[in-house]
Amino acid sequence: MKEYNVLLVGLIMSASVSMLHTSAMANGSSGTAKTITLDNMNPHIKTMEYAVRGPLVIRATEIEKELAAGAQKPFKEVIKANIGDAHAMGQRPITFIRQVLALVSYPELIDKSDFPADVKTKAREILAGCKGGSAGSYSDSSGIEIIRKHAAEYITRRDGGIPANPDDIILCAGASEGIRATLKLFVETSAGEPGVMIPIPQYPLYSASLAEFGMHQIGYYLNEATGWSLDVPELERSIKEARGICRPRALVVINPGNPTGQVLTKKNIEEIIKFAHKEGLFILADEVYQDNVYAKGSEYHSFKKVMMELGEPYNTMELASYFSTSKGYMGECGLRGGYSEVVNLDKSVKAMLLKSISAKLCPTVLGQATMDCVVDPPKPGSPSYDLFIKEKTDVLQSLAKRAVMIADTFNSIPGIKCNPVQGAMYAFPQITIPAKAIEAAKAKGQAADTFYAFELLENTGICIVPGTGFGQYPGTYHFRTTILPQPEKLAVMLDKFKEFHVKFVEKYS
Ligand SMILES: Cc1ncc(COP(=O)(O)O)c(C=O)c1O
Repeated sequence: MKEYNVLLVGLIMSASVSMLHTSAMANGSSGTAKTITLDNMNPHIKTMEYAVRGPLVIRATEIEKELAAGAQKPFKEVIKANIGDAHAMGQRPITFIRQVLALVSYPELIDKSDFPADVKTKAREILAGCKGGSAGSYSDSSGIEIIRKHAAEYITRRDGGIPANPDDIILCAGASEGIRATLKLFVETSAGEPGVMIPIPQYPLYSASLAEFGMHQIGYYLNEATGWSLDVPELERSIKEARGICRPRALVVINPGNPTGQVLTKKNIEEIIKFAHKEGLFILADEVYQDNVYAKGSEYHSFKKVMMELGEPYNTMELASYFSTSKGYMGECGLRGGYSEVVNLDKSVKAMLLKSISAKLCPTVLGQATMDCVVDPPKPGSPSYDLFIKEKTDVLQSLAKRAVMIADTFNSIPGIKCNPVQGAMYAFPQITIPAKAIEAAKAKGQAADTFYAFELLENTGICIVPGTGFGQYPGTYHFRTTILPQPEKLAVMLDKFKEFHVKFVEKYS
């Protein structure tokens, strides 16, 4: 009987292998049959889109190769204004951070180098938190304890003394990981498909992750006419429409905004918190740009602080806030450092969250060390303090100048309208695209702003992301550019942009 079963299983297996083989042949492939094909793979992955690294960027990289191979083009280099990656655009690392990382990676240098004493102290402290005293060991899944403690102290200072608990801090490999770990908690369908409210325009991590997790995207439009403000009546409209289709569970707010660059006022944050409370929503506050505030009169207010200051019943709401080493003045995107602070979460759910992240073992220890330098920077009077402050201030002041320069230049071009870049690292101007260009785009099967962005790339080498990648009010066209090219390069980029736009409008008028 046992042998018969084995035989049967064998027959079924060979039958399925031969079926797979036939289907691989049908797919036109030869050799070993593919076990995974477009037809049998996870459909959610197929629906995901991530414009910031989409077809335009692929083409930009091809053009770079063509230029390197000697191709003649109307430009000499590609300017990648598509992604918020400061170091890729020439920003220098902060000395203190890199010195600490050098010592943490190669501890022999602690005694041999003449690095400042506070750098050595920090490196020793981080290494003492590493198992085996090495950054090459796994850490606890939520991160090294001393760094979580420093993060909690940082938040307490930032929020004017409102306490943060190290147990609420989860270090992550970039904010993206923390955000995705939180979003996954809501994948539960017993009372309908789970829905998450996200701004439109949005940072595509959200649309992509919701698509991947099979969750419903509830878009609420930001108001371009009032500087991309987040209006509560619009939140009301979008949740009302969504209730028929899904079960709204969480509200994402990006402040300062990506791609829109707005900074929310305290009053606006209060209204949003009250809305979330009324609707029983969990708040995900994406605050990775908290150091990137430039405009006079704009100020960053953390959602946690505003929520706690509102008092009962709001101060017991569930909220997760995210921070990152990729943005701010440090721009250490490749090191993958971040944290989430998750407050008022049900104890058992928190245990589940910690369990789920433990399957990934831990965020990179060098990323955690970078985060430690950010949340526990040199103190006044310490040897690294003056240089640290100078480098930090230089970066932020230069970004502030570039923010103004970009908005002013775009506003000087007929057919382009740009809101002030109050914060973050992007401008999201609106473009008027001539009817003939819209027709030409249709003929190519492209959205009009994608067509515009491709023409810009092919004619000038400037790589931006079309508004379609972030979502926009129907019938409007936008693009996102970063403010990250260094000032001289930015000036060249904006001149070329202006010239291109004028010619584009002439060509299609
Ligand atoms: C709004 C927003 N959130 C999160 C992230 C992800 O950052 P990280 O590099 O920390 O994963 C980005 C990156 O651009 C972002 O713009």
